[in-house]
Amino acid sequence: MSEAQDRKTITVAAMGDLHVKETSAGAYRDLFAEVSKVADALVLAGDLTDLGKPKEAEVLAADLKACSIPVIAVLGNHDHECGGVDEVKRILRDAGVTILEGQTCEVGGVGFVGVKGYGGGFGRRMLGSFGESATKSFVSEAMNEAMLLENGLRQVRSERAMVVLHYAPIAETVEGEPEEIFPFLGCSRLAETIDRFKVTTVVHGHAHRGRYEGKTPAGIPVFNVAMQIEKPSGKPYALFEI
Ligand SMILES: [Fe+2]
Ligand SMILES: [Fe+2]
Repeated sequence: MSEAQDRKTITVAAMGDLHVKETSAGAYRDLFAEVSKVADALVLAGDLTDLGKPKEAEVLAADLKACSIPVIAVLGNHDHECGGVDEVKRILRDAGVTILEGQTCEVGGVGFVGVKGYGGGFGRRMLGSFGESATKSFVSEAMNEAMLLENGLRQVRSERAMVVLHYAPIAETVEGEPEEIFPFLGCSRLAETIDRFKVTTVVHGHAHRGRYEGKTPAGIPVFNVAMQIEKPSGKPYALFEI
């Protein structure tokens, strides 16, 4: 039995928005080595690459060789930019990363459920499925992501669960960004889904200038772990005992 399985909780390091470029070789190597010493699992909350180029994924995969703990990730909007997302996923999966798109996995007794999520806005001002077909497609993408999350959450057998997103499920953790772009930073449909299940912690990225901490309407803690956000750890990654 590993040390992590022996304990009642595990330490999860989480960060998002690495935006690895073709020219960033080695940029994260030391950080991944450091994280492996202080945590039992590393969660990456999307925008792993800057433009979704397979070459960028290869640069990240090379740096991940320095990481000796399980790596669980969701993709972000930037990982979709070049239309090479299947190749990006293949490269990262070959490097040992568990990419979640509605699936679940378990590490040290903690169930992880991940989806990218999508925009649409928050609360009463959330975009509804009305009018032009382009608007309906936008809303249906957000609803589909929420459904994938729901399917994943139904499969969690563990008492402790972490939800991993790229887009924000609440407005609180995007505060600090210009209000005009809130609808593109996340969607309340994700929080509505989360609140129907027993979830310990939610992490997301995407809002580089947002706020670290918030809560869903039902009181589940939500953390914006984009690496650009200042965290209590004083590091680009946040640490959670779960
Ligand atoms: Fe980002
Ligand atoms: Fe993003």
